[in-house]
Amino acid sequence: MTAAIDLPDALAAAPRLSVDAEDVVAGRLPIVQAEAAVRLGPVMRIDIPFGPDAGPCIHLVAPELAEDALLTRRESFSSEGGWAPLLGSGFGYAVLNVDEPLHAEHRRMIVPAFAGPALQRCLPGVLAVVDAELDRWADAGTLDLFPAMRRLTFRAVACGAGGMSADEADRAFAAVSVVLDGYDFMREGREAFLARANVARSAFLDVLADIVARRRAGEGRGDGTMADLVVAALPPDGGPRDPAVPFLAILLIAGHDTGMVMYSRALHHLGTHSALGVRLLRELADAGATADRPLSPEALDRLPFLDRYMLEIGRVFPPIVNIPRTAGDDVDIGGFRVGRGTRIAVAVGGVHRRADLHRDPHRFDPDRYADPAGARLARPFRNLTFSGGARHCLGARLAQIEFKSIVSRALLRFRIEPIDAVPVAHGGFWVGRPSRPMVVSLRTR
Ligand code: HEM
Repeated sequence: MTAAIDLPDALAAAPRLSVDAEDVVAGRLPIVQAEAAVRLGPVMRIDIPFGPDAGPCIHLVAPELAEDALLTRRESFSSEGGWAPLLGSGFGYAVLNVDEPLHAEHRRMIVPAFAGPALQRCLPGVLAVVDAELDRWADAGTLDLFPAMRRLTFRAVACGAGGMSADEADRAFAAVSVVLDGYDFMREGREAFLARANVARSAFLDVLADIVARRRAGEGRGDGTMADLVVAALPPDGGPRDPAVPFLAILLIAGHDTGMVMYSRALHHLGTHSALGVRLLRELADAGATADRPLSPEALDRLPFLDRYMLEIGRVFPPIVNIPRTAGDDVDIGGFRVGRGTRIAVAVGGVHRRADLHRDPHRFDPDRYADPAGARLARPFRNLTFSGGARHCLGARLAQIEFKSIVSRALLRFRIEPIDAVPVAHGGFWVGRPSRPMVVSLRTR
């Protein structure tokens, strides 16, 4: 093998393309990545046009390169470095934003909360949140799906999976919303936002510290929820913050800020493409579902079109558009050397739009997964919606249950119609965001 040192430096020698802030907001980045990958090769330089990490970035736009970065040679690609500009250090470090060997340790600790009996135990709580939030939507009549879905997904993970009370979840939610959705780089100075965000972040961590203290004092459900596992596995260490607090913070963020993007888009897309809704409703009706008698997660898993709809929403509108990394060492990849510390984007959206991997890639077509050749498209590293390998999303199964339950329950209850015909792009450099409000009217069927 050629030593990394002998290869051309990717920042200087890889094909260079440019996107500006408006391209990113309008969702053009994955298309630029995909077309360049097919034409020029899968390693390219596209600089980040705005934000705390504005500047040079190397993009990896191929399933094999994603596998390399996320699995085979993951020690050389730092998640801590990748997430640092996006999450800051204020929330602390847990699973998502730590490197090996700590990452493997954290994963082992928390994985029981997302599997088998613990997952089953949390589902009634998650579904109760979904139904309660849909009741609120029915009363509202018209709403912006994106913030409404943030509230739903936060409550689902906090109360359902995390075992928090509604009051605890509300206090945490009020604080975290400011940090996660408060920065509009087009309208607000970064300094002004940071000052506001710092206050809100501290408030969020204080709420979590209070919850952890109560669990340690024996208050709470104590039935193997995320909060219970974290608190049991991380005894107090005498430091100023209980070590369970950052862990809960990261899990709550990872567990709702992604799902809200995908589920709100799924409902909005049904509003603008009513034929898809008709097919889904027919499939649900054939399986015996009604608004009063929605299907269980197991029954929803037996509906092929709903499954393909979910795959296609994830392909075209991935909540994590690029998985953030930095080069942990000088690393050779795709015939280039990427110098230690260089920013790296594992291009989820770009891989999903490559014309040599996906027929007619910019067309929304759930039926592409119907034949055996199409089923290959959903394989790990070709489909990167939930990442892959050692970093595969821990909450993927919970997220799939949420997706199917929210889409089916909302569709059975409401006629969903956007209030205007202006398209809403799927923008964002790292994390997907709608380019404008997704306001819909909901009329009870
Ligand atoms: C539609 C919903 C979701 C999507 C699209 C999604 C996507 C992803 C992606 C792409 C990653 C990899 C990030 C990286 O390697 O840097 C990830 C990691 C992770 N996700 Fe999710 N996620 C979703 C929902 C959830 C939920 C509901 C939870 C649970 C509370 C969750 C917990 C996590 C955790 C803990 C990690 C870190 C795993 C690790 O590094 O080992 N996610 N997710």
